Amino acid sequence: MSATGSGRQLMPADIAAMKGKAPIVCLTAYTTPVAKIADAACDVVLVGDSVGMVLHGLPSTLGVTMEMMILHGQAVARGLGHALMVVDMPFGSYEEGPAQAFRNACRLMAETGAGAVKLEGGRHMAETIAFLTARGVPVMAHVGLTPQSVNTLGGYKVQGKGADAARLRSDALAVAAAGAFAVVLEKVPAKLAREITAAIGIPTIGIGAGVDCDGQVLVIDDMLGLFSDFRPKFVKRYAELGATAAEAVANYAAEVRARAFPGVEHSFVDEGGK
Ligand code: KIV
Repeated sequence: MSATGSGRQLMPADIAAMKGKAPIVCLTAYTTPVAKIADAACDVVLVGDSVGMVLHGLPSTLGVTMEMMILHGQAVARGLGHALMVVDMPFGSYEEGPAQAFRNACRLMAETGAGAVKLEGGRHMAETIAFLTARGVPVMAHVGLTPQSVNTLGGYKVQGKGADAARLRSDALAVAAAGAFAVVLEKVPAKLAREITAAIGIPTIGIGAGVDCDGQVLVIDDMLGLFSDFRPKFVKRYAELGATAAEAVANYAAEVRARAFPGVEHSFVDEGGK
């Protein structure tokens, strides 16, 4: 049910207005049936570029394309009636400058029906965020661990430790001042995330950033226990659907091999052709 009680699909302004009032619930989704499940409980559904790793088996998010984001965005949109849909801008689709970012953000919104886009980066993306928001494109920012920069960051490490905290704080302040309606804080020490949350006027949405952010986001396949190759330490598993699915598949295979499937009671052969 809606945290705002509005009964309509949430917009970026509704999410921004939740700061200090109600925690923001966000999950990723990449398909229509999963979007329907998430929509029942979430305020924001993110079509993350994590789709590349989670559904397509890519080694990082760098190979994700605009076409992939559009296809999955269209699928997710068909499953949503309540939550705000945010679509990630893939690597290489916005970093050249504001004009490139605007062109691709418009395409993502027009072709998927998304209410906002998300892009990675702090101070160096502030000009682009201001350009987009001034032209009707709501932006969710993303600072801290920014997976599209894995090669320059040197891995998927915690960001903002020690002296690096000042850099992260100014990144968060910069994206807020540029007009982002919310900011994802990924893999940031909990104390720093709490300080940033208190210092900026837009909601912080944490992932591996402690409990004091204004909201939380998880990759849905991780929290459902579907994705076994990679298990981030900060993700609580709310189910073990991967193990349940593997058991169901093994049971099915055993029944087929024992000629116990589909089972006499489901056979049409013995029903006189009716
Ligand atoms: O791509 C993604 O799923 C994300 C979330 C982890 C925040 O960016």
